[in-house]
Formats: sequence, structure tokens, C-alpha cells
Amino acid sequence: MGGEALTLPKDLLDFSGYGPKELQALLDLAERLKRERYRGEDLKGKVLALLFEKPSLRTRTTLEVAMVHLGGHAVYLDQKQVGIGEREPVRDIAKNLERFVEGIAARVYKHETVEALARHAKVPVVNALSDRAHPLQALADLLTLKEAFGGWEGLEVAWVGDGNNVLNSLLEVTPLVGLRIRVATPRGYEPDPQLLKRADAHFTHDPREAALGAHALYTDVWTSMGQEAERERRLRDFQGFQVNGELLELLHPEGIFLHCLPAHYGEEATEEAVHGGRSRVFDQAENRLHTAKAVLLTLLK
Ligand code: CP
Ligand code: NVA
Repeated sequence: MGGEALTLPKDLLDFSGYGPKELQALLDLAERLKRERYRGEDLKGKVLALLFEKPSLRTRTTLEVAMVHLGGHAVYLDQKQVGIGEREPVRDIAKNLERFVEGIAARVYKHETVEALARHAKVPVVNALSDRAHPLQALADLLTLKEAFGGWEGLEVAWVGDGNNVLNSLLEVTPLVGLRIRVATPRGYEPDPQLLKRADAHFTHDPREAALGAHALYTDVWTSMGQEAERERRLRDFQGFQVNGELLELLHPEGIFLHCLPAHYGEEATEEAVHGGRSRVFDQAENRLHTAKAVLLTLLK
């Protein structure tokens, strides 16, 4: 697939190094790939290693399918086999994989692990989720919002829930596309204040205040992968933060519901929210494929 040359940082660990132009170009490409249901040979003979310390449905599948649609291949390496930092240090893994493959997508507990991979591997490294960021998710979120409203300008998105990796990435991209964001978390679960500031986010501890009149309401699990030991405490601390029919009624009349999935039903969201008329969560999931294709095509070609 042709198109204007786009210079992006070697790796996608988060959106540092991205300006509005770079982000827009990536999203334009994703839209085009989706519209054309694109399949080609651009990455013919190229291999992406998927180095995953945690489980995944969407991220693993969309990256693997994206490689197939682009004429390449993916190799899945799970933590039981590779033992990042246990069987072998991360630097050695990077120095091996760069000899075998053209790119690495890594899902890790500590963000430092994906940073170390990127530092030591000559090939591009994509963050497939760390404790600090989920950039691939944020791309799909932006595409979903654009499809629902025709653009981002003037939209108000409300985040209700944990100040976690998914929110961090959303806070990084919203100012780049002119999207306004409101954030409601319980006390003690606030995201990085610098990210809030840079995004010029409206911050509150009241989910209703965030939801009122918003064009989209976005939530994620209260207990992320790796935080299972904190579940009981989190269940208590997040009382009142569930996205249900009542909270969704406060949205703008055209307001939509987003969730990166998987959902913990009865905790952060009800079945009514995920499967109801306002939900765009499965469009959001589908858009993981088109945006993954844009990222891989751009970084690996
Ligand atoms: N949203 C998301 O990243 O899903 P998976 O954990 O299934 O990859
Ligand atoms: N915040 C969640 C996102 C899963 C896609 C987690 O890190 O487990």
C-alpha cells in the first residue's frame, strides 16, 4: 500500500514523540485500511514476535491477524516458555529476537520491561499493554469516536473508573486531536497529574459530574491484570463508580459507551451498558484490528 511517507519513532511504547500530525496520519491510514478491507503483501516474509507475560484476546488476535492481512506472520511466545527476567534477562531476549524477527510486540507487567526491550533491540517494539500504557487501545478508541461522531473537535469524553494504563494512553492522545476529557476516579486511584494537566482534563471524584452531557462514557476494569491481590479493597473503593443504565442516562442524547474489554460484569459495568443501545464496545474491539494494521504497516515496512 502506497501513501505519504510518515516518520514515526522506532517504537510505540507510548505517544511520546507523536504530534498531532503523526497521530492523524496513523489514524488516516487505519481508516483507509478499514474502508478498503485491505489485504496485501507489504510485510511479505516479515515476522512479528508477540512476547506476552499476560493473557489477551483482542491484542494478540488483532496483531496476529493484522500480520496475516499484510502478508507477514506472527510468532506467539508466552511467558511460560520464555520466562522474561526469569529464564533469561530482557536484554538477552531483545538481542536474540532482533536476529530472528522484524518487530516485537510485548505485553508486560512493568513498563520498564518494554522500555528495556526497545533499548536493546534494533527492531521496532510495540507496547501491547504495560502497567503504564496501552497505546494500541487508544488508537482504536479514537477511530471509534470519529466513526460515531464524524470527528473529535468539540467532543467531551468522560472516563469513569480507575486511573490506569488505558486512561493514561487516552490522556496522551486526546489533546493531540482536540478531544476534551473529563475524568472521575475514586480517591487514591487518580492518574498521573502531569498527564491530566497536559490533557487539560476536568478532574472530579464524582462519576455523575463527569458523565453529565458527555458524548462518550468510557470505563475499564477496577482490577487490572497483576492487581488481583487488591481486588477486595478495590471492590470497596470503587463503589458508586459502576457504569449502568442510570449513569448512561446522564449522557448527551447521542452519547455512547466505550470499554476496552474484557469487562468484569457487575463491577465496573453492567450487561445493559456493554450490550445496550449506546454501546460501541464491539466497534471499538474491531477497530483494534485496523489500527494494529496501520501501526505494523508503518513501523515494520
Ligand atoms: N482491550 C484489550 O487489550 O484486550 P485484551 O486484553 O484481550 O488484549
Ligand atoms: N486495565 C486493564 C486493561 C486490559 C485490556 C489491564 O491492564 O488489565
